[in-house]
Amino acid sequence: MAEREVILDIRDLQVHYVVRTGTIRGVDHVDLMVYQGETLGLVGESACGKSTLGRAILRLVPEPGEIVGGQILFDGQDLLKKDEKEMTSLRGKRISMIFQDPMTSLNPLQRIDQHFIETIRTHDPQISKREALDMAARMFDRLGIQRERLTDYPHQLSGGMRQRVMIGLALILNSDLVIADEPTTSLDVIVEAQILDLLKHLKEMYPMTLVLISHNLGIVSELADRLAVMYAGKLVEVAPAQPLFDEPLHPYTQGLLASVPNIRLEDTVLRTMQGAPPNLIHPPPGCRFHPRCPYVMDRCREQEPPFLKVGPERWAMCWLYEKS
Ligand SMILES: Nc1ncnc2c1ncn2[C@@H]1O[C@H](COP(=O)(O)OP(=O)(O)OP(=O)(O)O)[C@@H](O)[C@H]1O
Ligand SMILES: [Mg+2]
Repeated sequence: MAEREVILDIRDLQVHYVVRTGTIRGVDHVDLMVYQGETLGLVGESACGKSTLGRAILRLVPEPGEIVGGQILFDGQDLLKKDEKEMTSLRGKRISMIFQDPMTSLNPLQRIDQHFIETIRTHDPQISKREALDMAARMFDRLGIQRERLTDYPHQLSGGMRQRVMIGLALILNSDLVIADEPTTSLDVIVEAQILDLLKHLKEMYPMTLVLISHNLGIVSELADRLAVMYAGKLVEVAPAQPLFDEPLHPYTQGLLASVPNIRLEDTVLRTMQGAPPNLIHPPPGCRFHPRCPYVMDRCREQEPPFLKVGPERWAMCWLYEKS
């Protein structure tokens, strides 16, 4: 297979939230590569650090969050070394983000067409308002929304349409990298399926790289080429999607998969996972998953396993795979 081009190379990333009770290590020494053109699913239970990682890529971690270490190489350049002006020109143009709740990202006082004109002209003032409107109208065709709705205000659209608009705004400048953070979580299942179909369809039309964040493995299974599984601020498994579904390596991934309806796992004894993710101010010593792990060994309680290469393109942070 030809060497795939790496568009994003995250190295030893650490993001902390300092709060009254201590330091929450939201992203704790994470390494992750994203290949040009792929769809990478980033999954894990609530509060494991997915959004923090996604936002860190755009340097949009909310207060009191702070990126305290590591590198984020995008096209070979470290985003953490760029000044705010350079970041502003990258955001939306080269890297864009689709958030879970479109209502908080859209300006309620602004019509939808104005959102498009502003997004387009902020990055390219040479484009006239008329041209920008044309671009928006063509995008609406692709999003499956009638052009007349361009003059609506956000509250006049349904939740599903608002999410389509957010997707359109993220794609209108042909971003190279799109990070979609739980883009369907606030929608009902039918609209969710439509939005996922739309993303799949747009992915075929635009040469973008997509990072799709979800707590639901079932959702990303439809779209992802590869999966990265997070637990308690750490990446615990990275694998191509099909091999991961066929044979999840990390006990946490096994637990996640076992709790997805419709994905049948043969030969496993796993039920729904017991317990909950740990407090990230005082995570358990050793492997963070050990208190919930059905295979826990003494060593797991004391020593954190390294991220072990287990097979072609497969990594797992688990002592089970250490070659003796
Ligand atoms: N603004 C904030 N202030 C303080 N702590 C935060 C903030 N945002 C996130 N955290 C903490 O950082 C950790 C990671 O949270 P994050 O939102 O990244 O998780 P997530 O995987 O996206 O969860 P979810 O599936 O619920 O969206 C959690 O412990 C969370 O409480
Ligand atoms: Mg989140």
